[in-house]
Amino acid sequence: MDIIAEIEELKKKRRAIILAHNYQRPEVQDIADFVGDSLELAREAVDVDASVIVFCGVMFMAEMATILNPDKVVLIPDNSAGCPLADTITPSDVRKLRKEHEGVPVVAYVNTTASVKAEADICCTSANSVEVVQSLESDEVIFVPDRNLGIYTQKNSDKHLIIWEGACGVHVGISKEDLLIMKRMHPNAKIVVHPECNPEVMDMADAIASTGGMVKYVRECDAQEFIIGTEMGHVYRLSRLFPDKKFYGLYNAVCNDMKKITLEKVRDSLKNMQYRVTVPDDIARKARRAIERMLALR
Ligand code: 13P
Ligand code: SF4
Repeated sequence: MDIIAEIEELKKKRRAIILAHNYQRPEVQDIADFVGDSLELAREAVDVDASVIVFCGVMFMAEMATILNPDKVVLIPDNSAGCPLADTITPSDVRKLRKEHEGVPVVAYVNTTASVKAEADICCTSANSVEVVQSLESDEVIFVPDRNLGIYTQKNSDKHLIIWEGACGVHVGISKEDLLIMKRMHPNAKIVVHPECNPEVMDMADAIASTGGMVKYVRECDAQEFIIGTEMGHVYRLSRLFPDKKFYGLYNAVCNDMKKITLEKVRDSLKNMQYRVTVPDDIARKARRAIERMLALR
């Protein structure tokens, strides 16, 4: 039996649903029931009609699915798929920030561990960071852990942000020079970048958006060609959604953790019910409050 048929059969047997992030390998995106950005996946994970969720993404995303579905089994096909950006901050770092800035609310980007989310007042994704920050009464806001998303959010809001110095190596590796070369090769293409990119890269873009926001931008834009300043997996996603448009990615923009998930590991995950993602109850309860507060905004 081929591997795709095997996955389909196991999915039925386990009453499972497969969720995949936009950065997943093409073949993993193709077998998923739902593909999306972090916010879309968090929303999709609420009340899914299945007993098992196989989460094809990185650990912080699978943890969110677990927190939002305490009664379901959440599996990640490779439990070493982490996010180096999330690892730049610990719960005690957040507690220290709170002590240094008494009374200032904490916004945690979802690219954080569940125990960091548990220390936050509210979460945000790259799709809603401005809206989340604006929803707070305080003029000052602690924003963790992504520096560039913090700078972008501050620029587009009227708050003063106290920003943690974390960054995503994949996105800061996208240089202005790389994009200029691409633009010379494709002069009619629009440059679309993720807000985890460096400010000088954001400054030269036609649009700055989360991966889900990029889908919306391309759908509404008359242009036929786009240079995509985010992880390569999203170039496949966009090409599949818009087969008549052209997308140019940057070959160095690859997240090794996202690419750890393969079809074989998805099959083994369903076959052996591995690797179960769990979050201790007290952490899950506090983190859920911060995530649900974000989800309630829209
Ligand atoms: P999105 O929320 O835009 O999908 O991004 C998630 C991520 O990990 C960016 O590197
Ligand atoms: Fe984390 Fe960057 Fe990979 Fe996104 S692309 S999961 S922020 S390391």
